[in-house]
Amino acid sequence: MSSGSSVTIRPARGIRGLVHIPGDKSISHRYAMLAGIAKGRSRFNNFSAARDCYSTLGCMKALGRESRKLADGSIEVEGGGAELSVPSQPLDCGNSGSTIRMLSGILAGQRFTSELFGDESLSRRPMARIIEPLSQMGAKIESGDGGRPPLKIRGGSLQPIHYKPQVASAQVKTCVLFAGLLANGETTVTEPIRTRDHGEIALRAFGAEVARNGNTVGIKGGQKLRAIEARVPGDLSSAAFFLCAAALFPDSHLTLPGILMNPTRARLLDILLLMGLNITVTQLDEHHGELVGTIEARGGAWKGATIFGADTAALIDEIPVLAATAPFSENGLEVRDAKELRVKESDRIVAVATNLRKMGAEVEERPDGLRIPGGQRLRGAELDSSGDHRIAMAFAVAALRAQGETIIKGADAAGVSYPGFFEDLRKITQ
Ligand code: S3P
Repeated sequence: MSSGSSVTIRPARGIRGLVHIPGDKSISHRYAMLAGIAKGRSRFNNFSAARDCYSTLGCMKALGRESRKLADGSIEVEGGGAELSVPSQPLDCGNSGSTIRMLSGILAGQRFTSELFGDESLSRRPMARIIEPLSQMGAKIESGDGGRPPLKIRGGSLQPIHYKPQVASAQVKTCVLFAGLLANGETTVTEPIRTRDHGEIALRAFGAEVARNGNTVGIKGGQKLRAIEARVPGDLSSAAFFLCAAALFPDSHLTLPGILMNPTRARLLDILLLMGLNITVTQLDEHHGELVGTIEARGGAWKGATIFGADTAALIDEIPVLAATAPFSENGLEVRDAKELRVKESDRIVAVATNLRKMGAEVEERPDGLRIPGGQRLRGAELDSSGDHRIAMAFAVAALRAQGETIIKGADAAGVSYPGFFEDLRKITQ
């Protein structure tokens, strides 16, 4: 199926089977960071296989917090309390916006200077959104042109703030809460739109008190964290690729055990149900405050949807695959209020529109979204991932319903969140 970094996808007849989805990337990052500043040894089952999460573990190691993979696949992290060791070199965040933004919150509270950098894509991503609150708290931060990485953070004693971010971003909220944990007093964050709450849930799992009042969350500084043993739920944003693949074939049948059902992430399931995919969730359970369940999906009708406002924020990582598969729906897809898509690992509005056009689709690109008519036929084509994991995987799914072969160049980008994606897709493709 793959040659070098290119993958060839052939049209499929259906989707059937069971996939064990690797652990959630958002939760794995937070667990790895908090385990490092907790006291004691933490252990995580089903820790994300994502390259991004290994960037976080690598940075934590450079800050004196070792981790190891055990024979059963679980990850152990040695915690050493909130005072990290001075790194001997700049911290490599790879492709990971979560690593650089959330770790900056912890580094702002350290009595040393650290530098963080990333790959070409990360070097283009906006960091003013975390530089502003951390500077207000007292950290001294230098950045590259236009508030982009690399970052140089001179940390120290932090003042609490009451912060109202302009953008709806869970990474920013988590960054400020992590810094708030190390500040003198109570820090609050009031979000314009409620975003994923894994930061708050993880902090509580490690023993911190986090208060919530509407869209405001607050944390008192100086709380000590203690190690945990936890199982990371399967990543719903990774499951989205298989669910959209199932939606493309009326007689498909897919089972995904142990998937994250956190209400701030699960809006995807409502949208897929509205679009006509038959979904049932069973074996609901809770792991350290995170809801988990087994998803069973059967193909049916595949209508259209309009995504805007709070839904856009809730579905931000799933929009690429919803958009790539939208031409096969009855009424198509309209995405609004999605300017943030332009500053992800690639400009995802451009990447989706360019690849869909190469497949012969009609697409309207807008400054903050897309309109993709339904009822279209697509042909296989040579596509480019733009070095973006979600673009590589989204178009592998779309290619299953195209006429003729599709080649995806730069397909190894998928490993940023899901290293075994193409093998898992092949297993359920008929
Ligand atoms: C994430 C938040 C989102 C999301 C990213 C992971 C997180 O980013 O797109 O993949 O784990 O908090 P923003 O905070 O930039 O919206």
